[in-house]
Amino acid sequence: MSKNIFITGTDTAVGKTTVSILLLKKLEQLGYKTFAMKPIASGCTMDKNNHLVNEDALALQATASIFKPYPVVNPIALKEPIAPHLAAKLMDKRLSVALLTETITAHLQAEADINIIEGVGGWSVPLNETELFSEVICHLKIPVILVVAIKLGCLNHAILTYHNILQMKVPLLGWVANCIEQDALASSENIETLKQWIDAPCLGVIPFRI
Ligand SMILES: Nc1ncnc2c1ncn2[C@@H]1O[C@H](COP(=O)(O)OP(=O)(O)OP(=O)(O)O)[C@@H](O)[C@H]1O
Ligand SMILES: [Mg+2]
Repeated sequence: MSKNIFITGTDTAVGKTTVSILLLKKLEQLGYKTFAMKPIASGCTMDKNNHLVNEDALALQATASIFKPYPVVNPIALKEPIAPHLAAKLMDKRLSVALLTETITAHLQAEADINIIEGVGGWSVPLNETELFSEVICHLKIPVILVVAIKLGCLNHAILTYHNILQMKVPLLGWVANCIEQDALASSENIETLKQWIDAPCLGVIPFRI
């Protein structure tokens, strides 16, 4: 099994955290030591100590078997719930491939059997005007799980993302179908279609309101 796994999605709010949490719980049941991080989180709020914190990162911190202080789990905490490069700019910060590569490398836990890294937004989220987060994952050669929210439009999003992951030669461990909408039309047909188009295993189908 890979030591590090990057959880990406076809978009924001598709179930990356949901899948990360399920995976962490399953891995723990199987006896693996886990650590989880969300390198960049936008949409943070102030905690009682006046530190910016994000719900996803807190959930990852609470679920992983290795507990680390918040800034290790979420080193880049951005206030506004907008695209990360824009949220960073509002805080006079600049994101880059070099910064993220260094940050992720420094925060991954050697003692973990598996490090789960949750992305921000979708696969091609910009870090600045010329660089994408996906380049960091490509550079670090971290295998990816793609979360697909099963709804109208997901075939286009999933196939585009899959092709880009392939083109960047990033190892794709597989994809997860997340049934995020109640009674979405043609869910099983969409999932079957994606099995034909994506040459990587479908690692699971998550029902609505798991
Ligand atoms: N299978 C499901 N059934 C019902 N609701 C779901 C399901 N999966 C996720 N959700 C809900 O959809 C919302 C988005 O899920 P989640 O936070 O896991 O997405 P995300 O990709 O991590 O989002 P973000 O881009 O903000 O990190 C949450 O409110 C979550 O509870
Ligand atoms: Mg999330």
